[in-house]
Amino acid sequence: MSQAVDLIIYNAHQLCTMPTHDNGPQRGHRLGDVGLIEDGAVAIHDGIIEAIGTSDEICGTYYSTTVLDVTNLVMTPGLVDPHTHAIWAGDRAAEFERRIAGATYQELMAEGGGINSTVRQTRAADLATLVDQAKPRLERMMQNGTTTVECKTGYGLETHTELNMLNAIAILDAEMPLDLVPTFLGAHAVPPEYKRDPDVYVDLLVQEMIPAVAAWKAEHWPDELFCDVFCEDGAFSVEQSRRILEAGQLGGLGLKIHSDEFEALGGTRLAVELGTTSADHLVATSDEEITLLGQSNTIAVSLPCTPFGLGHHHYSRAKAMLEAGAALAIATDCNPGTAWCESMQFSMALATRYLRLTPAQALACATVNAAFAIGRGGKIGTVAVGKPADLVVWEIDDYRHLGYRFGSNLAKTVVKHGKIVFEQ
Ligand code: NIG
Ligand code: FE
Repeated sequence: MSQAVDLIIYNAHQLCTMPTHDNGPQRGHRLGDVGLIEDGAVAIHDGIIEAIGTSDEICGTYYSTTVLDVTNLVMTPGLVDPHTHAIWAGDRAAEFERRIAGATYQELMAEGGGINSTVRQTRAADLATLVDQAKPRLERMMQNGTTTVECKTGYGLETHTELNMLNAIAILDAEMPLDLVPTFLGAHAVPPEYKRDPDVYVDLLVQEMIPAVAAWKAEHWPDELFCDVFCEDGAFSVEQSRRILEAGQLGGLGLKIHSDEFEALGGTRLAVELGTTSADHLVATSDEEITLLGQSNTIAVSLPCTPFGLGHHHYSRAKAMLEAGAALAIATDCNPGTAWCESMQFSMALATRYLRLTPAQALACATVNAAFAIGRGGKIGTVAVGKPADLVVWEIDDYRHLGYRFGSNLAKTVVKHGKIVFEQ
């Protein structure tokens, strides 16, 4: 007797299961294990993957009134975008024009533009506006195959607007099929009113804002909520970053850091010392800190859309990181300043070229390893029995077309928690 399930997807030319390794991420030279099943199929029930196998195995054991025949197509886990600033108001198109004319990102930031320009626009927006402006971006992410998105605050830089951003994230998470993972980034920039006294702003973060976020979490968010800091010249020093992250930890928040985007200040060493879940950007990282990363459980998150978006020519030294044994992930960094990119497919295309990853490695960075970068390792980003059925069917017959092709959306069907949420 065959067993009834809600949905069967079968005849996948290639099913890439993207397995964990020893219940952890795919590290170092073992990165790129796609866990390929040819002529693969999955049986899904109650939003969960009930069984995985060849089409013969699955169709011989299960039946469903809803079946999806994906002959000649590729199926993978839903993509996980582990670093975005997807909630903001307005845009910075005028600054973009100045940047292509020669102004640098740091120059614009120093004269009160950059992040602080988006802060002005975000402070002036109410909750409904924040939700309305972010929704289509998240929608496009989903249409491009992303099923879980980390979302940072950091355009409020005052308690009220930072909490408003968290409220926007909670509303969008509830209203949309996507799962959002919130991160408090009150330490994204020193707001103009504290420009003369950055340490007073750090006091405010530690004494008022982080406790307010911990209280918000207790009321609204049972899952993990991260605390992040932009450790960079012109933003926060290593010592300030340490104070902020230690306060976050004390408040029960998970930890992340933006380190080495432009300058190597020692933020990655701090990340390893504090055992942050991830260290992100990692463009200017020193050899010594790459070695430390490789020996740690901190996930190295590279954001190739950011140097690309800035027209820079330096990318994370992914090969050295893998050589050191690090666990690498990639993200879009979607934000209005450096990288307004909603597509993990594009991030994979850049990762193959500029991080020199194989398509298999880029795919692992965007799925199984990306899940570890947001504390959901082994739960999402992998096709495994008993896990949520977050899947993408791609309009390709060889998974290597992910990373190889770019500029058009190859996602054909996106499944979130067992439900089809996008089809083209
Ligand atoms: O990750 N580095 C800091 N934050 C963003 C930029 C945000 C912005 O410019 O609005 C980044 O690149
Ligand atoms: Fe960022």
